[in-house]
Amino acid sequence: MKKIAILIGASNNKGNTRSLAQYVADKTNATIYNLNNYTISPFDYQHKNIDDDFIPLVESLLSYDHIIFASPVYWYCMSAQMKVFFDRMSDLLHVKKELGRELRGKSSSVISTGSTVNPERSFEEVFINSFDYLGVKYKGMIYCYCEHNFDLADHEKIVNQKTNELSIALN
Ligand SMILES: Cc1cc2nc3c(=O)[nH]c(=O)nc-3n(C[C@H](O)[C@H](O)[C@H](O)COP(=O)(O)O)c2cc1C
Repeated sequence: MKKIAILIGASNNKGNTRSLAQYVADKTNATIYNLNNYTISPFDYQHKNIDDDFIPLVESLLSYDHIIFASPVYWYCMSAQMKVFFDRMSDLLHVKKELGRELRGKSSSVISTGSTVNPERSFEEVFINSFDYLGVKYKGMIYCYCEHNFDLADHEKIVNQKTNELSIALN
């Protein structure tokens, strides 16, 4: 079985995205990383922030075969925490190229929750385009429409199906 990490970027540490991510983690034996536990500053053209927590976090994530990015839909996009992380991926194309090369050959997927039945296409497209650019294979998205608080009973069938599909795709 491939080693899986789930990277959560959300404003609520006990929110809907966290609940969904925890369920998928339990099913797939994945390890959860929460961006709120790291100090990662926005992209800097001079890379003066290269000593913050971004590079150590990437090094940890690179020890996994598959990385799941978990973000709620905030204003049709990924969360701000996740966007800062993706902006910082640019460091891997300039100053830490050896880590960027290690990303190739990894695979990724997305976990998300939102208050619309179907997420805007733009939400997933940003991930798809970014993975494509980075040479990371994309394996799809598990999305749950949460009108209020996430209740597994409302989603168990579809989440199990999608999680099983992911597990099969990773074998
Ligand atoms: C700042 C903010 C912006 C949001 N924007 C959207 C949106 O554009 N589309 C959507 O479907 N839901 C939107 N929502 C609803 C959240 O995606 C939804 O409640 C989600 O389950 C929250 O996840 P969380 O508990 O992990 O933060 C937004 C919520 C917040 C707080």
